[in-house]
Amino acid sequence: VAKLLGLRAARRLWPALLVVAIATAAVVFANRWQSEVAPGGGPRNGLGPESGPQTRHPRLVNVATIVGAEAEKIYRAVLDELKAVYARSDDPVARAYASWRRYNRYPYRSARHGDLLVNNYANDAARSYWRFEYAGPMPAGALIAKDSFSVSRDGYVLVGPLFVMEKMPAGSNAGTGDWRYSLIDAHGERVGMTGGKDAERVRFCDNCHAKAPGGDRLYFMPNEVRMPFEPP
Ligand code: HEC
Repeated sequence: VAKLLGLRAARRLWPALLVVAIATAAVVFANRWQSEVAPGGGPRNGLGPESGPQTRHPRLVNVATIVGAEAEKIYRAVLDELKAVYARSDDPVARAYASWRRYNRYPYRSARHGDLLVNNYANDAARSYWRFEYAGPMPAGALIAKDSFSVSRDGYVLVGPLFVMEKMPAGSNAGTGDWRYSLIDAHGERVGMTGGKDAERVRFCDNCHAKAPGGDRLYFMPNEVRMPFEPP
């Protein structure tokens, strides 16, 4: 069982977590997805999945084959961990997003966001997101949050960052079409926010989103992962 938990991870474990990990080893055995999270120690650039806490399931995986129902199963098992990490930022979006409506059926790989497995949630003000390309411009107060994770080759589930777009009142930021981007990294620390602290660190968001067809900087997601067209 000690081997199962991974000595490599154990080296970095907080002592308290280690106790919890041992106590839950039986559960880990019974359900390979529900393993303990160990704090990671990688570079804090906010984008690398390697930079975040890790959850272990004991087998080798071909990451490219984790799609559809299997991706969803992993996601359900680790969502509480993702939420807990993002909530460390004290950002109200980080605390609330998972209770909003989700617009993808299962996590999908996003080449534009670090090749992570991602999900898109939108708040009530952004409910026209379900119309996808027909959504029209979002009103002020619209919030869209994208959480993320990945699975390493040796079977660790890695927390990825939380990507957030918020539509601000008209005229607040012509440079970004009034969108405010923010990024919370895999440690729950805010990397930057448009118009706020470290704004330059999220400038790359709009450099790309500004090119989205349709005029309101939204790209939406691949057809096959969309929730069936249905009014909220
Ligand atoms: C190189 C292009 C690119 C960059 C850089 C980029 N995005 Fe995106 N973003 C996309 C694309 C394409 C989609 C839709 C498909 C997907 O999820 O992969 C998207 C989707 C989103 C969504 C869901 C709303 C929508 O457009 O449908 C959010 C929220 C988001 N991105 C936030 C961010 C934030 C925050 C940053 C910066 C930290 C960022 N993005 C950087 C291309 C990009």
